[in-house]
Amino acid sequence: MSVKTEKFRPDQVAEGAAVLRRGGLLGIPTETVYGLGANGLDPEAVARIFAAKGRPQDNPLILHVPSADWLERYCADVPGVAYTLAGRFWPGPLTMILKRKPAVPDRVTAGLDTVGMRCPDHMVTRAIIAAAGVPVAAPSGNTSGRPSPTSAADMLEDMDGKIDGIVDGGPCSVGVESTIVDLTVTPPRLLRPGGVTLEELEAVLGEVAVDPAVRRQMGEDEHPRAPGMKYRHYAPKAPVTVVKGAPADAARYIRRHLSEGEGVICFTEFVPLYAGHPVEPIGPADDPAEQARRVFDALRYFDETDVEHIWAMCPDEAGIGLAVANRLNKAAGFHIVEA
Ligand code: TXA
Ligand code: MG
Repeated sequence: MSVKTEKFRPDQVAEGAAVLRRGGLLGIPTETVYGLGANGLDPEAVARIFAAKGRPQDNPLILHVPSADWLERYCADVPGVAYTLAGRFWPGPLTMILKRKPAVPDRVTAGLDTVGMRCPDHMVTRAIIAAAGVPVAAPSGNTSGRPSPTSAADMLEDMDGKIDGIVDGGPCSVGVESTIVDLTVTPPRLLRPGGVTLEELEAVLGEVAVDPAVRRQMGEDEHPRAPGMKYRHYAPKAPVTVVKGAPADAARYIRRHLSEGEGVICFTEFVPLYAGHPVEPIGPADDPAEQARRVFDALRYFDETDVEHIWAMCPDEAGIGLAVANRLNKAAGFHIVEA
């Protein structure tokens, strides 16, 4: 489908809902990243999402709903704890994997018997979904493999001409995709770290298993529970090396190894060390929430330069730091060195 892309004003809820109802593709703002939305009950509309992104067919989509009241329509055997989590974290950056009902098309779940459910913390998007009266299937609004978009402009960079419109809801307040927790297994399992932290989940759920794909590269014959976690992701054109360790040690390590034609992603206080090189600060070392807001922008920026290699500082795994570290490590193909 090739239709001129328009920008909607945030108050144009009816227009956005109409695009969804007629099977179109709509860029939607959320608190995490921009999504590429379509009617999640319409297999043909969902197929267009895969085409526009160049997304592998075996990578399922999540459904966006305006409230937890919609869970029963699409999910079977919903455990009480799903409502506890929804009460605590919805609307917000949490996707729950639940058993699906037959109402959910195979195109959405890639044939799995489960479906990811999320209620985004963005009033305009929730209003559009409610007005459309259908759940919205939406992956991140990037071309497959590229960093996720955290502004309407970033999304247009990848999707201009491939979608019917985009709702500009301003910059994303979280900046990395939602936390995914699988509630169909015991103990519940963290499949992707995000804005709702592992510590917050544990406070509600008790023990939470962490899928190995969160922290390391999966082998050829291993299958992460979130199919999307096996693909190379978020990768700028230049290779990335993540430098682990105390911020000052990592900063010095990069300074020593930095060559002509290389770029740096660093904590803001270390910018002066790298004068003369392309540098993207991602926020103070002690502010992983700010790092989350800036990490995808930083990765995108280097594609406008001709750097041949990128060194990246990385927060420790506490709180939302786990999500920032996961995105940087994935962008680096888990090429990690110790300072
Ligand atoms: O924050 C977000 O979640 C954003 C915004 C737009 O809501 N969406 C998003 O969607 O990040 P996407 O498609 O880029 O990532 C969804 C991930 C993929 O890795 C996919 O494999 C996994 O969720 N997933 C979807 N359905 C699943 C299922 N039934 N079981 C396990 N993993 C699933
Ligand atoms: Mg994505």
